[in-house]
Amino acid sequence: MNYQELANPGVFNQPIYVPGKSLQTVAHEYGLSINSIDKLASNENPFGASPFAYHSMKKALEGIQLYPDSDCTALKQEISKIFDLGSDQIIVGNGSNEIIELLGHVFLRPGTEVVLGSYSFIVYRLVANLFGATVIDVPMDDFKHDLGAMLEAITENTRIVFVASPNNPTGLANSKAEINEFVKHMPEHVILCFDEAYAEYQVSAPNLVPFIGRGKKIICLRTFSKIYGLGGIRLGYGYGNSNLISLLNRVRQPFNVNTIAQAGGIGALKDNSFIEYCRKKNEVGRKVLVDGLSLMGIEVYGGSANFVFAKIGDGQKVFQSLQSEGLIIRPLNNYGLPEFIRITIGTAEQNQRLLSLIQAYR
Ligand SMILES: Cc1ncc(COP(=O)(O)O)c(C=O)c1O
Repeated sequence: MNYQELANPGVFNQPIYVPGKSLQTVAHEYGLSINSIDKLASNENPFGASPFAYHSMKKALEGIQLYPDSDCTALKQEISKIFDLGSDQIIVGNGSNEIIELLGHVFLRPGTEVVLGSYSFIVYRLVANLFGATVIDVPMDDFKHDLGAMLEAITENTRIVFVASPNNPTGLANSKAEINEFVKHMPEHVILCFDEAYAEYQVSAPNLVPFIGRGKKIICLRTFSKIYGLGGIRLGYGYGNSNLISLLNRVRQPFNVNTIAQAGGIGALKDNSFIEYCRKKNEVGRKVLVDGLSLMGIEVYGGSANFVFAKIGDGQKVFQSLQSEGLIIRPLNNYGLPEFIRITIGTAEQNQRLLSLIQAYR
């Protein structure tokens, strides 16, 4: 028997996640120096990591001979202060991606259904496939979630509905009123996974804590990979009803979050001035990119995250051309959007470079 025959059948239906290339790979492939490359492909923070997080992580190196605190006690205490929740309502993961997978472990199997937006974060789809659940795709004609259609798509087999606010890769978010209305109508047998990976960039993000308090089946996800600038340590968390969190805890690996990451998270959450600085710079950068691309006649959606979404023609070609010059953006063919690209909002210099390269390409 070969490996093909030995593997679980679902493995062959599993789409492969294609991450952006690393700086090292691009430098090697195009004969460029690493310092000359700008990566605006993965919605990382162009201003680096939170300095508070950096110092906490350095200090934490002193204790790395020991296993981490499997319960992330101190980090959960910090998170609980933000949302006024108990520690039993919080779970910490190796990136918020891990928590999406834990949801699959607990709630998905063949015969169950997952409702998601057709242009929503690809990991929802990967996890649904992994557990043999059926994906019910709801069109996103104006590039944000059609929440009414999502409600209509729910059947008795639906277990999870994923809504990202703002959505990746389109950057658009539904209004607070739309989201509140949606949550009110969520049936009792369905879990809403409300993904807030970019919420810190919003002027005022929706707040689902009151619904959680009233017993609605919701898990909200946050990540340290974006505004906190900590994509490399893999850290995210979820908050929701304590019964839901306790089920997720049953299926997670012990010690899933390492000591350095826990320390980094604690530092980052206290670093208000860094967060404020990044948020403001991001707003300015968004305007520069939206104005600059619009002036070139490109249809661009500024959204409310740390990236813009633009209709450029042949996205893959633009991506290749910019990459050969040492600027990496994200083509979106694997999202079924071959005419679009996603550009992370960079530093002032990176944004100008992006505009010049696109201008030259056209
Ligand atoms: C909408 C959304 N959710 C979740 C994630 C995953 O974040 P993490 O790095 O915490 O796994 C991302 C990362 O790009 C994202 O865009």
